[in-house]
Amino acid sequence: MATERTYAMIKPDGVQRNLVGEIVSRIEAKGFRIVGMKLMHIPRATAERHYGEHVGKPFFEGLVAFITSGPVVAMVLEGENAIAEWRKMMGATNPKDAAPGTIRGDLASTIDHNVAHGSDGAATAEREIGIFFEASELID
Ligand code: CDP
Ligand code: MG
Repeated sequence: MATERTYAMIKPDGVQRNLVGEIVSRIEAKGFRIVGMKLMHIPRATAERHYGEHVGKPFFEGLVAFITSGPVVAMVLEGENAIAEWRKMMGATNPKDAAPGTIRGDLASTIDHNVAHGSDGAATAEREIGIFFEASELID
């Protein structure tokens, strides 16, 4: 299994609810290497680009409004099978379906405020990392 990088984000609800430490603890305990990390307020155009695959869906406008509503913690995580592993740690998109022990299962209750984001595949990871980070912001 190859070492991969994925884009991970603590959404505005997670920051606002003081869950940054809890979520970063889980990331570190799992053994991911955090190779990029910053607190930022996402500009609207960047949010629309990041969620471009969802343009036209009924939840798109609300999603962009939410993700730009306050600061997020943007991260790049590195590890074996990191893309799938981080999605497994987050749990299902809808916290109502997310297993206990997962971030969304333990810390969130509604789909529109589900605390964390993770890339869904290799191409997405590369695209999303490029949206949020310059190569010079990532450690080797
Ligand atoms: O984040 P994830 O990849 O698990 O799910 P997605 O299908 O890519 O959707 C992106 C985000 O849109 C989700 O994390 C939800 O916060 C939000 N969403 C929503 O508010 N209502 C839906 N019916 C579906 C997704
Ligand atoms: Mg997604």
